Amino acid sequence: MISELCIGIIGGTGQLGAAIAHGLLRSGLVSPEKLWISSRSNNRTGFESVESKAAIQFTTCNQDLIDHCGIVIIAVPPGLSAALDINVKPHHGLLISVIAGVTIEQLQHRTGAERVIRAMSNPAAEKGLAYSPWCASREVTAEDREATQALFNAIGQTDEVASEEQIDQFTALIGPVPGFVAYYAASMVDYAVTTGIDPVIAERAIRQLFHASGVMLAASEASPAEHVKAMIEYAGTTAAGLTAMQASPLADAIAEGLDAAYKKSKIMTATDLSAD
Ligand SMILES: NC(=O)c1ccc[n+]([C@@H]2O[C@H](COP(=O)([O-])OP(=O)(O)OC[C@H]3O[C@@H](n4cnc5c(N)ncnc54)[C@H](OP(=O)(O)O)[C@@H]3O)[C@@H](O)[C@H]2O)c1
Repeated sequence: MISELCIGIIGGTGQLGAAIAHGLLRSGLVSPEKLWISSRSNNRTGFESVESKAAIQFTTCNQDLIDHCGIVIIAVPPGLSAALDINVKPHHGLLISVIAGVTIEQLQHRTGAERVIRAMSNPAAEKGLAYSPWCASREVTAEDREATQALFNAIGQTDEVASEEQIDQFTALIGPVPGFVAYYAASMVDYAVTTGIDPVIAERAIRQLFHASGVMLAASEASPAEHVKAMIEYAGTTAAGLTAMQASPLADAIAEGLDAAYKKSKIMTATDLSAD
């Protein structure tokens, strides 16, 4: 049972690591007594609001964390991942990495671990709203898979995906939040302002539109494409807008942007890792 395990986060005071820590605490999957966090500096800022903060085990010794935890999440920058100084033996727990661009093979080589999950996530984990796709090394057991699924479900939604290449794709797609969605929202605010609407009002309206749309899309049984189809069939004002957008190169521009993000993430990780 995952709730009986100690969970450790190496880099748990960083942007993503802390978001995952807060998300896990918020969900109740992990209690402060069962949470371990390591960093080089022993900086503990960001955890002031946690009740029973004193119960969290903060350490600067990654190996100590490995020795005490049934699941260890690694959330350090790619370029620092070679200097973790850990030695994972078969009796140790499951290793889950959310490091962009570092492969399962590299993680196994650097840590000695055989049971390794490579995942992607994002700081929306703090609010229980992350999407965290993952894939597993051959040695990962059915119990490890169940624990991984439970852990990522506690901070949002998750899927096991078919390949590490797909994790790279997701790094560009869902790593940054609100990222691409913010661009669409900003374009709508800009348009509203050009029609004479007060910028403050325009921004409030569009924020609320995206909030409501996100909640509705997440809860709806209809797919995004089915929503678009239903709007077009309704033949109202939105249909006119959507038909014009569909006739424009908008979908191609979105694909081009996502492709550029994917390529950049590959280049950035390669540059960061070359510092190893
Ligand atoms: N932030 C995001 O939105 C996001 C999204 C998707 C994926 N990621 C991935 O998540 C990872 C972390 O990114 P981030 O933005 O959270 O980085 P960050 O804010 O710079 O945090 C990195 C953390 O790692 C700690 N650290 C560095 N070396 C360490 C070591 N040897 N032992 C223990 N702790 C160590 C740092 O603390 P000290 O300096 O005190 O050691 C810090 O707490 C990266 O691999 C990134 O690719 C991040």
